[in-house]
Amino acid sequence: MSSNPLISPEVLIPRLGDQLVKAGFITDAQLKQSLEFQRQCSAEGKPRLLGQAIIEMGFIDRPTLDRAITEQMLHLRAALEDANRNLEARVQQRTMELEEALRRLSEINQLKANFVANVSHELRTPLTHIRGYLDLLNTESLGPVNDDQKKALDVSLRSANRLQSLIDDLILFSQASRGEMTLTLGRVDLNQVVLKVISLVKPKADDRQIDLEVNVATDLPLVQADVEKLHWVISQLLDNAIKFTKPAGIVQLRVLKDVTNNNLVTVTVADTGIGIQPERIKEIFEPFHQLDSSATRRYGGTGLGLALVRQIIEAHGSLIDVQSEVNKGTKISFPLLISKAD
Ligand SMILES: Nc1ncnc2c1ncn2[C@@H]1O[C@H](COP(=O)(O)OP(=O)(O)O)[C@@H](O)[C@H]1O
Ligand SMILES: [Mg+2]
Repeated sequence: MSSNPLISPEVLIPRLGDQLVKAGFITDAQLKQSLEFQRQCSAEGKPRLLGQAIIEMGFIDRPTLDRAITEQMLHLRAALEDANRNLEARVQQRTMELEEALRRLSEINQLKANFVANVSHELRTPLTHIRGYLDLLNTESLGPVNDDQKKALDVSLRSANRLQSLIDDLILFSQASRGEMTLTLGRVDLNQVVLKVISLVKPKADDRQIDLEVNVATDLPLVQADVEKLHWVISQLLDNAIKFTKPAGIVQLRVLKDVTNNNLVTVTVADTGIGIQPERIKEIFEPFHQLDSSATRRYGGTGLGLALVRQIIEAHGSLIDVQSEVNKGTKISFPLLISKAD
C-alpha cells in the first residue's frame, strides 16, 4: 500500500489566493497587493477576508470570486472523496491481512493441540508395557528379586507412575483444548473424595513439614460432579499449595456449605505460601505458564495444572475464585451444586 499522506485542507486544495492567480483571475502582483491591504486592515482593527480585500481593491468582482470559491469547494470535495476511497482500500487490505494472520494462528494452535494429542498417545503405549513389566518384577511374578533390586524397582515404578500421570494430564489437556472433554456427572460424596485426596498428598506435605488441615462439614450433602475429575482438581490445588508453601507453613482444605446459597457447597484450598501478585493472577490459568520461569527447576511441574483445573471447574458450570497476597498466601475456591435428589 502507498504511504499515508498527511491529509489536511492545505494539502488537498491550493490556497484561495494561489488558485485565483493560477486560474488567471488576478496576477501575482495583485495578490501581493491584496495581501498587503489585508494586513493593513488588520492593523487598523478592521480585518477582512482575502476575497473581500481583492474585491475592494477592484481586481475581481463578486460573482467571479463566488465562482472561484465554488470551484475550490468542488476541488476539496473530490480530494476528500479520493482520500476516503484510499482509506477504505487500506482498511480492507489490513482486514484481509489480519484475517489471514488469525487463520494461520488458529491453524498453528490446532497443529499444537494435535501434536500434544498424538505424542501423548504414542508415549502411553510403551509406558504401559514398562509399568506392566516393572510390576511383574516387583511382585516377583518373574522370579525372586533381592533387596537392592527391589529398591531399584521401587524407584523405577515411582518414576514410571509419575510419567504416566504427566501423560494423562497432557491427554486431558489436548482433549479439553479440542473441546472434547466430557464429564461423567454423578452424585458425589465429597467426604470420600477428600479422604482419597488427602491420603495421596499427605506424604508430600509431611516431607515438606507442612501442616495439612482438613475441615469438612459433618452433614455435607452429595454434590453433582464428575468424581474422577473433581479428585484430580482438588489434588492439583493441594499439590500447588504444598509446593508453594515453605516448611512449617499451613495448607488447609475446607469443604463447607455455602453460607449465602444453600444449593452450593464450596471447596477451598488455602495456604500460607509465597502468594501471587494481584495483577498476575489471570496468568496462572494459562496453559504451560508458570509465574516464575525458574519454577520448573525449583518446584517442578509443567504449568498445565491450573489451566485444566479451570476448564474442569467451568465444565461443571462453576467458577474458580483466587484470592492471594504476596508472602501471605493464596486461597483458591469454587462452588459445586448440591445434587437435586439429595
Ligand atoms: N498456591 C499457589 N501459590 C503461589 N503460586 C501459585 C499457587 N498455585 C499456582 N501458582 C502459580 O501458578 C503457576 C501455574 O500453576 P500450575 O498450572 O498448577 O502449574 P505448575 O504447578 O506445574 O507450575 C505456578 O507455576 C505458580 O507460579
Ligand atoms: Mg500445579
